[in-house]
Amino acid sequence: MQEAKLRELMDQMTLQEKIGQLVQLSGDVFNTGDLSTGPQEKLGITQEVVDNCGSVLNVIGADTVHKVQDQYLQRSRLKIPLLFMSDIIYGYKTVFPIPMGLGATWNPDLIREDYKIIAEEAVTDGGMVTFSPAVDIVRDARWGRCLEMPGEDPYLSSCFAKAMVEGFQNNWEKGKSIASCVKHYAGYGAVEAGREYNTVDMSERRFRQEYLPPYKAAVDAGCEMVMTSFNTVDMMPATGNKWLMDDVLRKEWGFDGVIITDYAAIQELIGHGVAKDKYEASKLAIQATVDIDMKTNCYSNHLQPLIENGEISEDLINESCWRILKLKNKLGLFEDPYFGCDAKLCEQTCCKPEFIEQANKTCNEALVLLKNDNDVLPLKKTGQKIGLIGPYADNPGIFGMWALHGDRKYTITVKKALEDVLGTVEYSAGCNVLDDTSCLGGFGNIPSLAGVIKTGDELAEDEAKALEIAKNSDVVIMAMGEHILQSGEGGARTDITLPEPQKQLIRKVKATGTEVVVVLFNGRPLALTDILEDADAILEAWYPGTAGGKSICNVLFGDYNPSGRLSVSFPHNVGQCPLYYSQYSTGRPSSPDSVHNTRFVTHYLDVPNEALFPFGYGLSYHKARYSNLVLDTDKMSKDSTIHVSVDVTNESDVAGIETVQLYIRDLVGSVVRPILELKGFKKVQLQPHETVNVSFEITEEMLRFYTRSMKYESEPGDFKVFVGCNSMNLISTSFTLK
Ligand code: GLC
Repeated sequence: MQEAKLRELMDQMTLQEKIGQLVQLSGDVFNTGDLSTGPQEKLGITQEVVDNCGSVLNVIGADTVHKVQDQYLQRSRLKIPLLFMSDIIYGYKTVFPIPMGLGATWNPDLIREDYKIIAEEAVTDGGMVTFSPAVDIVRDARWGRCLEMPGEDPYLSSCFAKAMVEGFQNNWEKGKSIASCVKHYAGYGAVEAGREYNTVDMSERRFRQEYLPPYKAAVDAGCEMVMTSFNTVDMMPATGNKWLMDDVLRKEWGFDGVIITDYAAIQELIGHGVAKDKYEASKLAIQATVDIDMKTNCYSNHLQPLIENGEISEDLINESCWRILKLKNKLGLFEDPYFGCDAKLCEQTCCKPEFIEQANKTCNEALVLLKNDNDVLPLKKTGQKIGLIGPYADNPGIFGMWALHGDRKYTITVKKALEDVLGTVEYSAGCNVLDDTSCLGGFGNIPSLAGVIKTGDELAEDEAKALEIAKNSDVVIMAMGEHILQSGEGGARTDITLPEPQKQLIRKVKATGTEVVVVLFNGRPLALTDILEDADAILEAWYPGTAGGKSICNVLFGDYNPSGRLSVSFPHNVGQCPLYYSQYSTGRPSSPDSVHNTRFVTHYLDVPNEALFPFGYGLSYHKARYSNLVLDTDKMSKDSTIHVSVDVTNESDVAGIETVQLYIRDLVGSVVRPILELKGFKKVQLQPHETVNVSFEITEEMLRFYTRSMKYESEPGDFKVFVGCNSMNLISTSFTLK
């Protein structure tokens, strides 16, 4: 409707009705038959609050959305539609690889197309807003939520944040667009000790330079909503942090969309110790311009008293209510309160072959080959005895924790894909994912991936069969990994290695003398040191989604030459966390030309400083050589650019895709500067023995940072330019900014 009419509508609303728009409840209050004694009593709200609430969390399914919306509108005085919001992070029914795997594609354009598919599927089933993309910079592998994030680098993550928002919102094409909600604003990936919900604290300079960029990229791409994070920022929880929400997000960045809290985060201001009760917590949040209270009764029960006591102005409620009504109006809900959802359309749309093909295409590019000794890969489709072992080999739930709606019927498991290639396959699970899942707790209705935990004779038989297969095979594929609930929300671990039963099985299988190809299913960078020797090859498959098994076999048999490159650093062991490539030099860098003896420099006694597998790393079946790195000038002024040129030669007989990475280093700044910063990348197709010239532009804007005066600017001085296949394998040259 016209905005003038929308304004007229809002003028008719009572204060309670306006406050109602700021309340988000979960589906249980709508699904119970007897509304008077339903879950709202547990939540401490009245029926009036239920009747006025503006949005609902994780209620989806076309028929359910129709029923709930109809029931709601019957009771709504002004017929303002309910807004349905869900966690549809990296797939609806068709599930793509987890975002840490999408980050490994280094292909934002591809991911934009994926997210259009996610939007189209979700919208047919009643999705209107999705709590995605999650783009927290992540550098601590202990954290359970690594899986949801594109990676550790601000530039690469910003490219994905933009593409994901553009994919979801898809130029608001009717029936193929969903409102996106970037999260978790801000800095949630920097939780101390990698522990969920924990403190985040860093300098404003680092925060702005390294953690804020992806959220800003999402906002600049037109993201409709922002979700507050559970953590503190400068010792003030994000949800009550006026500087973060109003000064930075709204005033500096010009965001005029809807801010929603994370789950119960207003109430958690009490737990944080910055509010003594819900009354104070509500005041902090509304003054921070937080619009929607997810799943508590803070706003519903305390905003009116705050106004009546003269502690807040009703204008704050009006501004939030207006932003929410504008979003509903933008989605056309006043004309179509179901947002076009239809069960039959959903049935026809979801998991279409072309969608699963797109998931396969993306997954091909997401897989990262970490090790391939003696070119054990690619495998042969004939003349090679190949066995299949491991608890993930025949598992249809290879989606990761946040694919709540993935349709497992369509999953292509490794076993299925292998049978499509080889006909029959000798297979044994060999062991459990975990022998004891009691520590994991539960999460919604996700069926445990561990399935039935085998014990005693059954487990012994599985292992015996696995070893028998190994003895009779030239090579075995071992599909191993973390339990699905060992990562995801609440999934922090201090031991980031594979579960013990799996490490033992790999050792025993290798001891039979067969070659071992380990395929990993995991939601974080794992510490792989203790399987490195026993695995002749390691393929990182993340949680690869619906087409995972097909993509894995594409790579294993060379039908797809692996091109994935890590967007996160894999540590030697957990003691290195947090770990990232763009470290600072320190006064005592651990380098061969250090003036100090080897002990008194920044280093460990037991492992190198660097990652076991670094940012940007990945093997391919082709071999690329970088040469002729040339700048068109080595003198740059503030308004000029430098043209960078490099030759990339494929020295093999295999065509492949190379991700050419451009980094810079600012050698001297008014504050310390990272030893390396990603500033560009290009994926190029290389034919056998072909040399391709790749070029980049370096602009003055790329050299800017928060200087000692906290101005975002470049400074004259000397710079190094690096180009290569990963953050540890680079060639370099230099230039000066005048
Ligand atoms: C959870 C998560 C957030 C999610 C929200 C709604 O606690 O932190 O990512 O979108 O609640 O389910």
